Amino acid sequence: MNRPVLEGLRLNVPAYVKHQRLVDWVAQVAALTEAAGVYWCDGSAAEYERLCQQLVDAGTLMKLNPELRPNSFLARSDPSDVARVEDRTYICSTKQEDAGPTNNWMAPAEMRALLETGEQALFKGAMKGRTMYVVPFSMGPLGSHISHIGVELTDSPYVAVSMRTMTRMGRGALDVLGETGAFVPCVHTVGAPLQAGQKDVPWPCNPTKYIVHYPETREIWSYGSGYGGNALLGKKCFALRIASTMGRDQGWLAEHMLILGVTNPQGRKYHVAAAFPSACGKTNFSMLVPPEGYAGWKVTTVGDDIAWIKPHDDGRMYAINPEAGYFGVAPGTNAHTNPNCLASLKSDTIFTNVALTDDGDVWWEGLSETPPAHLIDWQGRDWTPAIAKEAGANGKPSPAAHPNSRFTVAATYNPVLDPEWDNPNGVPIDAFIFGGRRSTTVPLVTEARTWVEGVYMAATMGSETTAAAAGQQGVVRRDPFAMLPFMGYNMADYFQHWLDLGGQIAAKGAKLPGIYCVNWFRKDAGGKFVWPGYGENMRVLEWMLGRLEGKAGGVDNVFGTSPRYEDVRWEGLAFTREQFQSVVGIDKAAWQQELKLHAELFQQLQHHLPAELPATKARIEERLSR
Ligand code: GTP
Ligand code: SPV
Ligand code: MN
Repeated sequence: MNRPVLEGLRLNVPAYVKHQRLVDWVAQVAALTEAAGVYWCDGSAAEYERLCQQLVDAGTLMKLNPELRPNSFLARSDPSDVARVEDRTYICSTKQEDAGPTNNWMAPAEMRALLETGEQALFKGAMKGRTMYVVPFSMGPLGSHISHIGVELTDSPYVAVSMRTMTRMGRGALDVLGETGAFVPCVHTVGAPLQAGQKDVPWPCNPTKYIVHYPETREIWSYGSGYGGNALLGKKCFALRIASTMGRDQGWLAEHMLILGVTNPQGRKYHVAAAFPSACGKTNFSMLVPPEGYAGWKVTTVGDDIAWIKPHDDGRMYAINPEAGYFGVAPGTNAHTNPNCLASLKSDTIFTNVALTDDGDVWWEGLSETPPAHLIDWQGRDWTPAIAKEAGANGKPSPAAHPNSRFTVAATYNPVLDPEWDNPNGVPIDAFIFGGRRSTTVPLVTEARTWVEGVYMAATMGSETTAAAAGQQGVVRRDPFAMLPFMGYNMADYFQHWLDLGGQIAAKGAKLPGIYCVNWFRKDAGGKFVWPGYGENMRVLEWMLGRLEGKAGGVDNVFGTSPRYEDVRWEGLAFTREQFQSVVGIDKAAWQQELKLHAELFQQLQHHLPAELPATKARIEERLSR
């Protein structure tokens, strides 16, 4: 092993590191960024505790009351760094066409000049005064044939500890790499170099941000943010954007999907993967507690955000969750909406941007019906209902927790974790669900009659934007497959990839998973959700399973099959025929309008758009005009 020595900087390569190319790359990035030191994470519990203590000393983390919330911390980010930045996210393929019309694109050489090689390149000297952490991680079980290794170089110890929870991080990942194994290089800086003697701030970041992917060389470079998907590069950057391009080339899928197991009273277990856009209910659905009337039913979590799905020789599609933890939305989580999630957060959790109670615990909007009389809000300011009212806008009080405040916790704390969650072979998928957040138009549930019809539903899905990304909220936009912000290549080619995989499975004579489109979010004239949602979504799930078994009834609507009132179990829930009608009804005028939005999407994607999709649209239009 040649261990390069940089002038004035020790690389501190541990004896167990045997990968020359990795060491050389670490040396290169340390030189570029002028890091003040290099630390190799081993992933141990002792290291986690040490780094958390260091973050407490630096003021980034605050230790919560150990009696109320053992081993847990609160982080407050800079108020300008609270969510993913989609307009700063780039897919830098050689050809713009390969990034497609839905992604920001820049030529790789141009981007490299900006970030690495130019006179004023942003990464030059970006880690001055900071330690560079070498964070090796595996997406998927260690050593599994399905898993992929990444190494993140970051100057944020908050990122290092979060990566330990979210991935299989540390020495084990390096052992898998051996001397020559392949890894995805991920470089991350908060973009806040420290001059000699300069005091650090609790949440360093930079107003300039770049979240950059080079799909051909499978590299990730992230500048300026320390928050979530911008900075924990194993998640959206690797497991979705880079992995989707791997999947395109190798015949598999990387999806923004939860994976759940559902067992009926007869003991038969099904697996369902569901794609809902950011902050639209994946974590909730993956931990669902079946309501009254569902004795003997059980839902278990395989994953809450990302699925890697591969067709097997038996003609079925098998899914794994490449992550090891949850980075989930706090607001709205409570003992009614998601008791299993709440139980997962009892200890060993890092909360970011939630409110702090006077007794050193956490609070967020929706945790309890009545907020505590006094809190410290997510920006560290005094908060009372009166102050909130005063500071509010549009008749809404100013929230104590940021709407995109989140928790970071290991999957193993989930009381309904599926026993197969870690199985390297994954679980066989029986149904796919696609669902947006739509206050109007889209019915509660529709079954696709064919694979193509299902791909059409997923491709044309619309959803109201949420606080998970910076920018305007509550605006309906097309979010195909809930992947709009996470596609690593041309969206139209991705539609083709889905059609091709379905075709391959059908050609083997195997049964394809069912495809369903749902909407939990239709509102009444008063602006209230009509469908009770959460655990009650079990009723819709049961109908789907009934359809797969050929038992449940339904009627055709203009774009698929939907349940009649009598096709759904209502035991334990007062939900009238009229209410049901108001969540399943199809308004012709609204759908004519909706199809115009489908047409706009197809126009945007016309260059590679599979012909099956406009053909499906024409059939819907024909039925609508009858
Ligand atoms: P990301 O982590 O951003 O990908 O989001 P997610 O899809 O996992 O979202 P999550 O499950 O955390 O839900 C986000 C918000 O949607 C929370 O405030 C929930 O309370 C709310 N929500 C989830 N399920 C339902 C539902 O069935 N009905 C209604 N009305 N709200 C829901
Ligand atoms: C999402 O926005 O879909 C998330 C949160 O899951 S983040 O990891 O920040 O992207
Ligand atoms: Mn997500």
